[in-house]
Amino acid sequence: MTDVPPSPAPASTGWVIAGAGWVARDHMAPALAASPTSRVVAVVDRDPAAARELAARFDGAVAGTDLAAAFRTPGAQVAYVATPNHAHREVVAAAAGARLAVLCEKPLAATLADAADLVAVCEAAGVLAATAFDQRWHPAHRAAADLVAAGRLGTVTSVRIVYGCWLPPDWSPPGSTTGDNWRVDPVRAGGGAYVDLAPHGLDLVGALLGEDVTSATTHLQHRVHDYAVDDGSVLVGSTGSGVLVSIANSFNTVETLPRRRLEVVGTAGQLVATDTMGQTAGGRLELLDAATGTPAEIAFDTGTTPFAAQVRAVERALAGEVPWPFPLARDLRLMQLLTDALPAVPTPRRSDLEVSP
Ligand SMILES: NC(=O)c1ccc[n+]([C@@H]2O[C@H](COP(=O)([O-])OP(=O)(O)OC[C@H]3O[C@@H](n4cnc5c(N)ncnc54)[C@H](O)[C@@H]3O)[C@@H](O)[C@H]2O)c1
Repeated sequence: MTDVPPSPAPASTGWVIAGAGWVARDHMAPALAASPTSRVVAVVDRDPAAARELAARFDGAVAGTDLAAAFRTPGAQVAYVATPNHAHREVVAAAAGARLAVLCEKPLAATLADAADLVAVCEAAGVLAATAFDQRWHPAHRAAADLVAAGRLGTVTSVRIVYGCWLPPDWSPPGSTTGDNWRVDPVRAGGGAYVDLAPHGLDLVGALLGEDVTSATTHLQHRVHDYAVDDGSVLVGSTGSGVLVSIANSFNTVETLPRRRLEVVGTAGQLVATDTMGQTAGGRLELLDAATGTPAEIAFDTGTTPFAAQVRAVERALAGEVPWPFPLARDLRLMQLLTDALPAVPTPRRSDLEVSP
């Protein structure tokens, strides 16, 4: 009997996690830990305990507070940047300076100027750089994009997105003990529900249709929570070919109510996705036939999270298997559009208004 040679270990990509908070801990780390082609080599956070605790989940990963040292860790190839928005530029610059590929959380930065700097730095370094719009990789959304591309909806007329949550002034992420709600700080977040959630929807429209929104207007709301940033927003716009788009976002939707819904309407049918927008696997996708109005469930991979699919997509692009389909310059154009769509006159805070019940 001849010995069977051991199968070669799959080639692995070396990741550095920068910012060991909620999204890294609860969503990206599980995706990396489950991926046979990924290896976390370092975790860096300005809080040493946070870095240590997350690094302890990965064999051989080093923990630290020094960005430059972390990005020089032997084997490091990609930096996943998950600090609060205002710190993205500095962290991405350090990663690109060390010639690492970059996967930076959304929004690109707290200000448009910082985002433009961040994109310029990545372009100058010549590294693969991407926004971590995980929802573009959700298997339900990929299935929806395939149906649109195959013409199953006929002429697409509109996309309607509802994506909200409940985020009171004293909110902190699950598992967090800092009590620091930077999401309602205009300087560190750059805005409220609109800045936090609308970028996902705007990116998703492009990923679903293969064309982006090119003109838009936004209304902001300070309706329920009395903080300095908006707690609700609605953007209405149009793609270059005339698909009408509405994207409603909120920090003021009670979470027992429906708050994650996506519809793509066409002359031959309508797609309805519920509970697919977010960080988790699953949800539901239906295609309603325009001739009969009858819904049919569309099957998709309900076991893969959008974060797991995103890790795979980045690694394939890094390995040269496929080109990266969403250049950072395009994501910057979408951020410019979001900024330009804002009302010229600031929306008053709740405490300055007579709010009806
Ligand atoms: N894609 C998604 O679905 C999704 C979900 C949640 C958050 N996010 C984005 O991820 C980012 C992080 O959000 P979060 O909820 O995890 O925040 P968080 O507050 O839970 O964690 C942020 C971490 O960054 C660390 N940090 C702060 N400044 C730093 C710096 N200069 N250098 C190194 N570390 C620093 C903090 O100590 C903290 O551990 C934000 O940009 C947010 O918009 C994306």
